[in-house]
Amino acid sequence: MITFPEDKPRKPKKEPHYFFIYGLPMSGKTFFASYFPHALDLNTDNNAKQSRVPFMSLVTDENDKPVKDVIGRMDEILKRIPQTSFKTIIIDTIEDVVDAFTKQVTEEAGEKYITDGKLAYGKGTGMVKKLISDLVLELKAMQVNVIWISREIEQSDIANGTTKIVPALKPQYYNIIAGNCDLVIRTQKLGPNTYYRSAEEKRSNYTPEDITDSTIRQLLESCHGMFPPQTKNEEKKETK
Ligand SMILES: Nc1ncnc2c1ncn2[C@@H]1O[C@H](COP(=O)(O)OP(=O)(O)O)[C@@H](O)[C@H]1O
Ligand SMILES: [Mg+2]
Repeated sequence: MITFPEDKPRKPKKEPHYFFIYGLPMSGKTFFASYFPHALDLNTDNNAKQSRVPFMSLVTDENDKPVKDVIGRMDEILKRIPQTSFKTIIIDTIEDVVDAFTKQVTEEAGEKYITDGKLAYGKGTGMVKKLISDLVLELKAMQVNVIWISREIEQSDIANGTTKIVPALKPQYYNIIAGNCDLVIRTQKLGPNTYYRSAEEKRSNYTPEDITDSTIRQLLESCHGMFPPQTKNEEKKETK
């Protein structure tokens, strides 16, 4: 049955659940994500083997054989998650997932490239985009935190002679995913044992009180620019 909300302004509930993390290889993306509550890392490289986080490979199966139907495997995993105790799903990395989906769509159409023959005029790319937006919606429908991980690359503008750091995920997919995220965080390794994280984009101006999960609050407090500095000071005063 459909129920309508009361016709009066409501107090917005500001709590981030969808995160996009990008950074260079070995800058601490998986490390940071692994501390989220009950995290499961769905990965495309086998790097998570060296991490503390429970993981599943999307591209190799339980016998270490390459998976042909990556789209089907992702679907099967997501369908089973509600029956597990995992509360944070990490997609590590999203550009590899896009590449695997693109490869599968191309192969299944019997073409060489996503822009060839039957897939020309944006049809192939449209199919991959649809798969990615379905993935976003499917994850959003679950009661879980979602962390999308991407490597970063340097993009140079030859005309201006400038460079900027961007996620390796192509803009058309970045827009779908980041458009559905609450926070974009960049990880950096500044020295042999110095790791740095910064909140690059925020859906709202969050304060620590908005974050009900204390583990997530602590993790976000370690991100530069996440909370306004005065809020942090006030909080410190209060706890004295
Ligand atoms: N904040 C941190 N403090 C200590 N060690 C870290 C931190 N972030 C990353 N590391 C270490 O750096 C290595 C690479 O981190 P990882 O998260 O796997 O990188 P990425 O996923 O960005 O490629 C790991 O061995 C990890 O233990
Ligand atoms: Mg990693």
